[in-house]
Amino acid sequence: MAGLGINQGAAGNISLRAGGKMLITPSAIPYDDITPEMIAAMPIDDNYGAWEGPKRPSSEWRFHLDIFRARPEIGAIVHTHAPHATAIAMARREIPPCHYMITRFGGGTVRCAPYALFGTAELSALALEALRDRTACLLANHGMIATGPTLDAALAAAVELEALAKQFILSVAIGGPVLLTGEEIAAAIEQFATQYRPN
Ligand code: 13P
Repeated sequence: MAGLGINQGAAGNISLRAGGKMLITPSAIPYDDITPEMIAAMPIDDNYGAWEGPKRPSSEWRFHLDIFRARPEIGAIVHTHAPHATAIAMARREIPPCHYMITRFGGGTVRCAPYALFGTAELSALALEALRDRTACLLANHGMIATGPTLDAALAAAVELEALAKQFILSVAIGGPVLLTGEEIAAAIEQFATQYRPN
């Protein structure tokens, strides 16, 4: 994530659904220093908050776990403090329908969850609400959450969302984007569903 320019230092965290367990990065350890043995495991469906591992799981384990519990189609979650997505989240703004690629995240907007302290059940509830019918969201004054069926897909979604955030900010800098209509967004969703695949 650091190499891709979507994160820095020990910020952010990653999780993967593996059978009935969630595997998640340890808390407060820079990515370059993380080794496979440090990844923590937490049961998804029972013993809420229990964990195994040599290091404490990410301080954001609640929203990772709550997302896996509420959204069975999600297999992996990437949380980053990517600069452009975070800049929009610091303004507590959503990303509007400024580019057809926004539909890759499930609809015409990427919502921004209201602010809540990191690591709290409150933040988790707000993130889940912002993710309703969506695969990604911003977190006010914090960063972004991107999800996918696999770890590769979730990482690709995080990179795509950061690119979209950068494009939106650049457009705002020259007067602001002309927004796509509901009809145009619906057509893009339909086009992706029916026409967009490698042959
Ligand atoms: P962790 O190191 O505990 O995962 O926390 C980093 C972070 O980004 C909190 O939002």
